Parts: sequence; structure tokens; C-alpha cells
Amino acid sequence: MYVLGILEMDAQHEAIAKVVETLQEVASNASQRMQIHPTLKRLNELLSAHFSAEEAFMAMISYSDIDQHKKNHRALMKLFAHYFDHPPAPAEHEYLCKHIGDSILGHVKNEDAKLTESFQEISRHLVYQ
Ligand SMILES: [Fe+2]
Ligand SMILES: [Fe+2]
Repeated sequence: MYVLGILEMDAQHEAIAKVVETLQEVASNASQRMQIHPTLKRLNELLSAHFSAEEAFMAMISYSDIDQHKKNHRALMKLFAHYFDHPPAPAEHEYLCKHIGDSILGHVKNEDAKLTESFQEISRHLVYQ
């Protein structure tokens, strides 16, 4: 069940990274600007489902940094809420989409990597006990 949790999250991270790539591509191409909104919506939905799964996983393994990690998730979701509530001027799309994408990838690379490391540490103890 634990390993399945990590594999499932890796697959979700991969799917998220693909949509981030699409977002940054459509945001940097003036002729594809109409795709920004649906791509952001899709990314928002994927992240929302992913964060629920990841937070359930953190609770299941009693992850020590769960509170801070959840706060980071909320902060990422706020970037979307801000974008949808205050649609940016066309000139700002590229910068903002890059910021959203980079923030998500940075979270996966840093915070989620810590979670994986911590899980691997727990697994080692379970195996050798
Ligand atoms: Fe996370
Ligand atoms: Fe994650």
C-alpha cells in the first residue's frame, strides 16, 4: 500500500509536469493564448486531486513536516485563485504562467522530494527491524 502510494504520486507528478510544460508553451505563443485558461483549469484540477492524495499519504505515514507541506499546497492553490479572480493583462500572461509553473515544479523538486526521502527512510526501518 505504501509503495503503491509513492508510485501513484510519481505518476501524478509526471502528469502535472506535462501540463506545466503545455501551459508554458501556450503562454509564450501569442497565437495559442486562448489555450491558457483551459490549461490552467486542467492544471488546477490535477493539482487539487493530487494534493488530496498526497496529504492523505502524508497522514498515513505520520510525516513530521505535514503541516508546513500542507501550507505550501494551499499557497500554490492561491496562485490559481488569484489568477482566476484577477485575470492579468495579456502582457503579463507569459510571466505569470511561468511563475505558476516554476512554483509547482519547484515544490515537487524540493518539498515532495523531502517527503519521498522521509518515506524511504521509514521503509528502510520497516525492512530491517
Ligand atoms: Fe506536495
Ligand atoms: Fe506532489
